[in-house]
Amino acid sequence: MALADYINNKPVIETDRLLIRPMTVLDVPALRKWMQDRSIYTYWGKGPGKAEMYPELLFEKTERPTKSFHLGIANKQNNEVIGDLWVYLIENDRMAQVAIRLSKEEHGKGYGTEALSAMIRFCFENTELQRLWTQVDVRNTASWKMLEKCSYKREGLIRQGKMVNTWCDYYNYGILASDIKQEVFNENDS
Ligand SMILES: CC(C)(COP(=O)(O)OP(=O)(O)OC[C@H]1O[C@@H](n2cnc3c(N)ncnc32)[C@H](O)[C@@H]1OP(=O)(O)O)[C@@H](O)C(=O)NCCC(=O)NCCS
Repeated sequence: MALADYINNKPVIETDRLLIRPMTVLDVPALRKWMQDRSIYTYWGKGPGKAEMYPELLFEKTERPTKSFHLGIANKQNNEVIGDLWVYLIENDRMAQVAIRLSKEEHGKGYGTEALSAMIRFCFENTELQRLWTQVDVRNTASWKMLEKCSYKREGLIRQGKMVNTWCDYYNYGILASDIKQEVFNENDS
């Protein structure tokens, strides 16, 4: 499979507790419960926008086929969307940025690590992507800890740089397809 195969057929990824899947208008009531909660945007780089305040807007226009992924993170037990993630700004099918957010009520239960590590595996096993990266406000401890648990490497500190729409100290984090392969080798060796 290749990235191009997922333009029209976005993937569904299953983990122990989660279903990472495309969202539909039927998910709007679940999204309304958490998307406009300002507390999840403290280190997001910008506050909630129109689509976060009124999640139905996300489904008003027919979605143009794109190579990027914007998927919901649903609790497998009730199929309720408790978060979402993006793989976007894909360059030359080789490098992409990743972002993830969860309902405040679901923080600290390991869902972030579970969803992100499954998405990373999906990208490296099913597409040509070789590098995923992200920027994290240094104060966003939950986020950088989650990234490190998913084997991202801290690649540097940017002092008072522009992260999305805010100025702050932030880390660059990245993970390569070869990092994951190396991990599998190490697991097999031990
Ligand atoms: C970042 C986010 C997705 C993490 O998801 P999560 O499910 O809460 O994270 P996990 O439960 O998988 O925890 C990952 C690690 O961070 C730690 N952690 C979680 N919340 C924490 C907090 N508030 N402070 C310090 N550490 C925290 C966990 O203990 C865990 O480390 P451990 O296993 O060593 O204990 C979630 O906090 C979130 O949605 N934040 C708001 C949006 C955001 O900032 N996204 C990231 C943008 S770069």
